Amino acid sequence: MKQKDTVLHETNCGVQCTEKLRMSVGGLVLFGLVTEVVLPVWTVQEAGVASQVACASRCSQHDACGGFQWNSSSCFLVVVASVPGAVNGAMTNAFRLNSYRTNYHLYEFPPPPGGIDPANALATCRNNSMDLVPYPVTLKDRASLSIRQTRRLFVDMIRASDGSYVTLSSGVPVPNTAIYGWMPGSPDGGIGRCIGMGGPDLLFFDFNCSYTTTNAGVICVYSTLQ
Ligand SMILES: *[C@@H]1O[C@H](CO)[C@@H](O)[C@H](O)[C@H]1NC(C)=O
Ligand SMILES: *[C@@H]1O[C@H](CO)[C@@H](O)[C@H](O)[C@H]1NC(C)=O
Ligand SMILES: *[C@@H]1O[C@H](CO)[C@@H](O)[C@H](O)[C@H]1NC(C)=O
Repeated sequence: MKQKDTVLHETNCGVQCTEKLRMSVGGLVLFGLVTEVVLPVWTVQEAGVASQVACASRCSQHDACGGFQWNSSSCFLVVVASVPGAVNGAMTNAFRLNSYRTNYHLYEFPPPPGGIDPANALATCRNNSMDLVPYPVTLKDRASLSIRQTRRLFVDMIRASDGSYVTLSSGVPVPNTAIYGWMPGSPDGGIGRCIGMGGPDLLFFDFNCSYTTTNAGVICVYSTLQ
């Protein structure tokens, strides 16, 4: 098991703890250590942070932070590319904010050695009582998913025959505006109906649903109580 969760209770936030933090996370934020992070991530360095817990707290409060790294003296927040001053660089280990969207927790399986297709990614999650990761909503969600062990991931989304988007798992409509950016070459004219995300900027791509790839991992979610 490569993931290890650390729990940051609001009582540990010290002076940095704000009402906003309490409201947005219901008092509990979960960070998990991700090793072998495969792609470079965007980071900003935070000044005046004295401990790992304080660094976690800074990440919780930052609107575009999805994880952090504390190197025993400095705090680096993993953010989305649009944050002023963000620099892109390799970071092999980082704590990922596993609190996702409003009430989910992220769980990443080790990359399947023989590769995987969307149907088996969905089945892997379901066989373990989880769901395939839904598209990110907030900047924090996007930054969280930028910390991962595979270059690409399958998202719980498929393009319907009328060109609209629905969830792969249950056919629930997804707003077209959920797709904030495509990778070069996508969308491919409607041939590929399954939807994934990839690259350091976490952009969308579409592909043939029969496509098995060793580039993609399985990231699932499970519900948490708020
Ligand atoms: C932590 O990062 C800072 C800023 O890049 C650097 O100056 C320092 O040497 C690093 N410390 C360790 C222990 O790696
Ligand atoms: C999921 O479980 C079913 C039923 O046990 C099994 O046939 C299938 O191979 C499993 N799929 C994956 C990807 O684990
Ligand atoms: C998707 O891939 C399968 C298997 O390679 C192929 O049979 C099928 O024609 C492809 N579908 C499209 C729409 O390209």
